[in-house]
Amino acid sequence: MSFFIADALWLMFPAYVANSSAVLFAGTLPIDLGKNFSDGRRILGPGKTFRGLIGGTMTGMTVGVIQQAVRVHTLLGVPSFDPIFVVITLSFGALLGDIAKSFFKRRLGFERGASFPIADQYDFVVGALLFTYIFFPEWLTLNFVAPVFIAVIVLTAPIHLMVNYLGFRLGKKNVWW
Ligand code: CTP
Ligand code: MG
Repeated sequence: MSFFIADALWLMFPAYVANSSAVLFAGTLPIDLGKNFSDGRRILGPGKTFRGLIGGTMTGMTVGVIQQAVRVHTLLGVPSFDPIFVVITLSFGALLGDIAKSFFKRRLGFERGASFPIADQYDFVVGALLFTYIFFPEWLTLNFVAPVFIAVIVLTAPIHLMVNYLGFRLGKKNVWW
């Protein structure tokens, strides 16, 4: 059981880091270039910027490469990021999931930063896993076996809320969720 939890945290770490570090890079040039959708609302909104996307992806990737190096050098009994390119799909996919979530939030009329429970916590998990599955289906199915997947689902919401609360207390985020 504890192995599944350790594997889940290890495997998802690049995605967690990508998703939560985007706020540290928050830029001003929005990915939707400030444009509106046909419903008159912003396509994605001002909370999704190129700097956040690129900075978050790079940070998640860097962490994944370090994890893999540590694993190889210490023979740690944790899953391998092999091929190493999975650290790219996990990190970039996480932020794509977050962007897709914002698209739907805007269509539903939620303002930037409004709380959208479940979607706000799991958008990046869905994005990271789906995007990785498209490129590396064998790696994904080999590593995300049912108990690991369940551990990811159970652990992500509390971790996400704790990290956001920390970001809020450190003055990086405007809202505690
Ligand atoms: N951020 C960014 N670029 C991204 C993702 C996040 O610049 N691709 C920054 C923005 O400053 C954003 C903050 O990180 O406001 C928090 O991210 P998030 O909670 O995902 O965005 P929200 O502001 O809640 O916007 P939304 O309602 O669209 O989810
Ligand atoms: Mg938010």
